[in-house]
Amino acid sequence: MLTIALPKGRIAEQTLEKFEKAFGEKFIFQDRKLILEKAGFRFLNVRNQDVPTYVMYGAADLGVVGLDVLEEKEYDILKLLDLEIGKCKVAIGLKKGDKLDWNKSSIKVATKHTKIAKKFFEQKAMAAQIVKLYGSIELAPLVGLSDCIVDIVETGATMKQNGLEVADTIMQSSAYLISNKNSYYLRKDDILDLREKIART
Ligand code: PRP
Repeated sequence: MLTIALPKGRIAEQTLEKFEKAFGEKFIFQDRKLILEKAGFRFLNVRNQDVPTYVMYGAADLGVVGLDVLEEKEYDILKLLDLEIGKCKVAIGLKKGDKLDWNKSSIKVATKHTKIAKKFFEQKAMAAQIVKLYGSIELAPLVGLSDCIVDIVETGATMKQNGLEVADTIMQSSAYLISNKNSYYLRKDDILDLREKIART
């Protein structure tokens, strides 16, 4: 049985839809259950940022996770397939009307994506003071916690409704199928077969 870690929420639903199309069965997590066993697969319902951890340590053979999460840390895993779901970008957000002043000696940046943010400002040779937050990032510049944010933009609605706008795009992201390295070598045929079936949906 292959164990597959899925991130809670929308990406999990869209991934299970792909499995439904590929295998012609219904794949649904019941109530608040964290494990779903179906058609010879075991799915784990985990937090987004925890998916690569489950996969790297072999608690799951495979996982589905956003490229933005993979860019945030070094994980010893294999990237097998771009699922082309969960498309979004990691962008810099500013209060509408504000401009990024590259001549300033330093800038305060609120974000969940600290590594991506740090790398971006380093490349621009600007000293960035990174303020790590875990959610509702758009709030930070509104109450003076930061000058700007680095955050996920999908529809753009959250920024718009909070009077922010995108100043620059750092990277495009989408969800990837990832694999534990040992699982891949031990069960290459099963894993590649699954990859093929999912790629065809
Ligand atoms: C993410 C992200 C933005 C929002 C962007 O937040 O951090 O706040 O989605 O989507 P939009 O461009 O379609 O409005 P999420 O819902 O994951 O919650 P969070 O506050 O925990 O980051």
